[in-house]
Amino acid sequence: MLLLDMSTVKAIYPGTFDPLTNGHMDLIARGAKIVDELVVAILRNSDKGVPLFTVAERLEMIAEAIAEGGFRNVSVTTFDGLLVDFAREQGAKAVLRGIRAITDYEYEFPMAMMNRKLDPDLETLFMMPTEQYTYVSSRLIKGVFKLGGDVSALVPPLVMARMTAKSAGKS
Ligand code: PNS
Repeated sequence: MLLLDMSTVKAIYPGTFDPLTNGHMDLIARGAKIVDELVVAILRNSDKGVPLFTVAERLEMIAEAIAEGGFRNVSVTTFDGLLVDFAREQGAKAVLRGIRAITDYEYEFPMAMMNRKLDPDLETLFMMPTEQYTYVSSRLIKGVFKLGGDVSALVPPLVMARMTAKSAGKS
């Protein structure tokens, strides 16, 4: 007898997203194609120093970008504490992470292994963004933008508008 597996695969795409880049959007698009439900999860208690955007602003921007992209199986939320605990609460089977270069692997591998140690049932899926965004990171975007560089091709237009407004002291 053929038994159909009707279960759905939900994955978490966690990160700081300060700010959301085209690389993140590319990964969201790729992830949304292979899982049934993708939850973009912004870490609230990040130790990365003073952020450019508040968590609330990032939440708003990602929600807008998801809506603009027409991703019907993608949502966004925030989380605190351990990723494995959040994934369990959400009923997610996997964590999605982007890997751009070998240096990302060095950062991602111990995190993936630690998460596996903490929850052996949670899988980490690594996906590569399109080549044109392999060098794009939120940190680099912020640094270049602060020095007056043009990053408009590397972030969604709605993020660019918010960055410009922020630097002009409008938000
Ligand atoms: O975009 P980032 O900053 O590289 O994302 C890092 C993130 C949010 C995935 C990672 O810091 C994380 O999962 N933090 C939650 C705390 C946790 O679970 N730590 C143990 C895993 S090593």
